[in-house]
Order: sequence, then C-alpha cells, then structure tokens
Amino acid sequence: MPEKHASKRNYTVKKEFRAFYEAVKSRPVRKDHRPYYIKQLHTRAQSLYVNHFLRPQFECLGRHFNFIQPWYVEVFGGPVRLGEHVCVMAAADNRVRFSVWSNEKDIAGITVGDACLVSPGARISAAKSITIGNSCMLASGVYITDSDWHDIYNRVTLGPARPVVLKDNVWVGDNAMIGKGVTIGENTIVGARAVVMNDLPANVIAAGNPARVVRELNPDEQPFFTRGQWFEDAESLHRGLQAIDQGMLQGNTLLGWLRHAWFPRRGE
Ligand SMILES: CC(C)(COP(=O)(O)OP(=O)(O)OC[C@H]1O[C@@H](n2cnc3c(N)ncnc32)[C@H](O)[C@@H]1OP(=O)(O)O)[C@@H](O)C(=O)NCCC(=O)NCCS
Repeated sequence: MPEKHASKRNYTVKKEFRAFYEAVKSRPVRKDHRPYYIKQLHTRAQSLYVNHFLRPQFECLGRHFNFIQPWYVEVFGGPVRLGEHVCVMAAADNRVRFSVWSNEKDIAGITVGDACLVSPGARISAAKSITIGNSCMLASGVYITDSDWHDIYNRVTLGPARPVVLKDNVWVGDNAMIGKGVTIGENTIVGARAVVMNDLPANVIAAGNPARVVRELNPDEQPFFTRGQWFEDAESLHRGLQAIDQGMLQGNTLLGWLRHAWFPRRGE
C-alpha cells in the first residue's frame, strides 16, 4: 500500500459484517419475543405481498428485494423501476410513495438503482425522469421531485419538469428536498432538512436551505464502503443475517410471545 494511503480504512465485507454483528449483539434494544419461525413467516408474508400486489405495478423489480411493511408502499402511475437488493421500509404513519404523473407519452419515470435504501415517508414524484444510481440512501421523509406540479402563472396546468439525477452512493438525509433539474454527484451527502435546488458536485457534504457545500470528502484518503459492496456476496450475507436472527431469537416460544404481546412487563 502506498505510504500516502497508509491511513486508508481497509474495508472488506467480512470485516464490516463482523463489526455489524458485534454492534447488533451489544445494542440495548428491546427483545424481539417472536420465535424464529414466526419472524420467518412474517418475512415470507411480506415477500408474497410484494410479488403479488406490488411487482405488477413496477416496470421492473430486481432480485433480492427487502420490503418492510410493503402494504404501506404506494405506486402511482409509471414506469417505476427498482434494481436488485433494494430495501424499501414503510410504516403506517410514513408511507413510501413512488408517483409518476405526466401529460407526455414515453417518459422515463422513476429509476432506482441496485442496493438502494428507501426509508419510511420517502416520496419520489416524477413528471418526466428521476434517476437514482446504485447504493443510494434516502432517509425518512425525503422528497424528490422533477416538477413543481403547477405553473407559476397558470395554476391549473402542470408546471415545467426537468430531470433529476442522483449518481451512485448519494446519501440524502432526513426530510431533505430535492427539486427539479438537480444532479447530485457520486458519494455526496445531503444533510438533514436541506433544500437542494441546484446541482451538487461529487464527494461533498451539502446542507441548509438553499443547500450549500459545507465540507469536501476525500475518497482517495478514505474510501467509501457502499451498500453495493455489502451485497456483493449476497448468499453468505443472507446466511450471516439469518444466523444473527437465530441467535437473537433463540429460546423464544409461541406462548412466551403471546404472553408478552398481551401482558407486557416493564423492561421487556
Ligand atoms: C450531513 C451530516 C451527515 C454531516 O455530518 P458531519 O460530518 O458530522 O457534519 P459536520 O459537523 O462536519 O458539518 C459541517 C458543517 O455543516 C453544518 N451542517 C451539517 N449538517 C447540517 C444540516 N443538516 N443542516 C445545516 N447545517 C448542517 C454543521 O453545523 C457544520 O457547520 P460549521 O462548520 O459552521 O460548524 C449530518 O449533519 C446530517 O445531516 N445527518 C443526518 C443524517 C440522516 O438523516 N440520517 C438518517 C438515516 S439515513
């Protein structure tokens, strides 16, 4: 390794998984009382729901998706394409919405790349084209739109639309908003509650309203470990995550779970 890169973090999937495992094991979370097979059934039900109800609404949905509470995901219009290893988390009070609404034909719609994370409350609304690269992360409440949806003077017509592009490994913080015509460069982070109305370069942190670059990132000095890399060996990652679940839920019984659901005790 060249001298100047001696301080580089040496990311490997195995090392990162070990760190993730240690963090999960030691975190002070409330115990999940479900028996392992109930959790598996729940996961299975979510996948069945996605394949039966959501898949037909997508132009394309890649392999190895992970939808949490998919019944709170709404797809309106199209085309909407999601890549492989996409994780979409929705909640009753924070639905995820992919909406395409246009008076033009043959528009590109919404494209979300591989290994992206879409958090509860995220809304992606396209009148023309929104393209999200691989390994991007959208935090809770993010709003991405390529249109103003009304014209400034003519309030009954659809306003102008300009394509939005998020390059690979962009991370958009909690409740940030990205408006029409914006391109965000690779690896860039958009801070929580930022309002992005102009392009942002690659490898920066931008924050505020309107969003301004607040810090430069240096991938040569400190390389990024992306969600895409995390999923490179999907099979062993899956086995590893299953082993964590089995370990955490070991000893849980159906009766214990029901008892906890109906008669919870302090500290459980
Ligand atoms: C963008 C973020 C990751 C940067 O964290 P960081 O590296 O610790 O940031 P820094 O402290 O170096 O910030 C640099 C400057 O930008 C400012 N800043 C950072 N985030 C900001 C934000 N969201 N809004 C306004 N200003 C912000 C800081 O106050 C600091 O200003 P200063 O130099 O005048 O003191 C973090 O601020 C953030 O927004 N986190 C939220 C992430 C999120 O939404 N996670 C949800 C899970 S996906």
